[in-house]
Amino acid sequence: MSDKSTWRRQQNKDIYFRKAIDEGWRSRAVYKLKQINEKAQILKNGMTCIDLGSSPGSWSQFVSREMSGDVQIFAVDLIPMDRIQSVNFMQGDFTDKKFYSNLLEVIKNREVDLVMSDMAPNISGIKVSDQAKSIYLAELARAIAIETLKDKGNFVCKLFQGQGMDQFVKETREQFEKVNLFKPQASRKESSEIFLIAKHFYGQSI
Ligand SMILES: C[S@@+](CC[C@H](N)C(=O)[O-])C[C@H]1O[C@@H](n2cnc3c(N)ncnc32)[C@H](O)[C@@H]1O
Repeated sequence: MSDKSTWRRQQNKDIYFRKAIDEGWRSRAVYKLKQINEKAQILKNGMTCIDLGSSPGSWSQFVSREMSGDVQIFAVDLIPMDRIQSVNFMQGDFTDKKFYSNLLEVIKNREVDLVMSDMAPNISGIKVSDQAKSIYLAELARAIAIETLKDKGNFVCKLFQGQGMDQFVKETREQFEKVNLFKPQASRKESSEIFLIAKHFYGQSI
């Protein structure tokens, strides 16, 4: 049996995959954000947020659909994303310096409540290098959080358990009041992914 048909069979058995289709979400990843929010209450009405690694768009969709008021979402991905209400989407490589500064330019002086990153590198199969790439993406996500978040703002970031993760968590604790790791039920058990939830940014004064 081909890898593709094994993948399709696994997806069909997955309750979150089917639920996402039934409920009109673009991806099963939406339930990770929903469960993170149930745990940590990071979403609020009228919020401004940055969604890194946004495609196909279920996290942006969730914020746009579930939150009322003047919600603003700045979403970024390497690959295209179909339009979503309240979302300003920029296609590009977040690790590219020019793209990063263009994004900052678009966000300008807006007060950002939440930076969330579900970015994951393309897996090469070489563990050490995949892990290093994922930590690099997380470091850049944290860097933009530090540049854009308002005081007491929040940061959520996908991490992969392995080399560099403990150090990343430790450093994040220097910038935020409360930092925890959380594995949502919707995250596949066999995956080493876990989410860092950092609440209450100390602010630019630190
Ligand atoms: C797990 S998916 C995100 C799913 C998304 N949160 C959703 O709810 O639909 C990870 C995304 O990270 C993106 N990504 C990985 N590296 C990136 C980079 N350097 N710049 C921008 N996006 C990146 C990938 O293209 C991919 O779409």
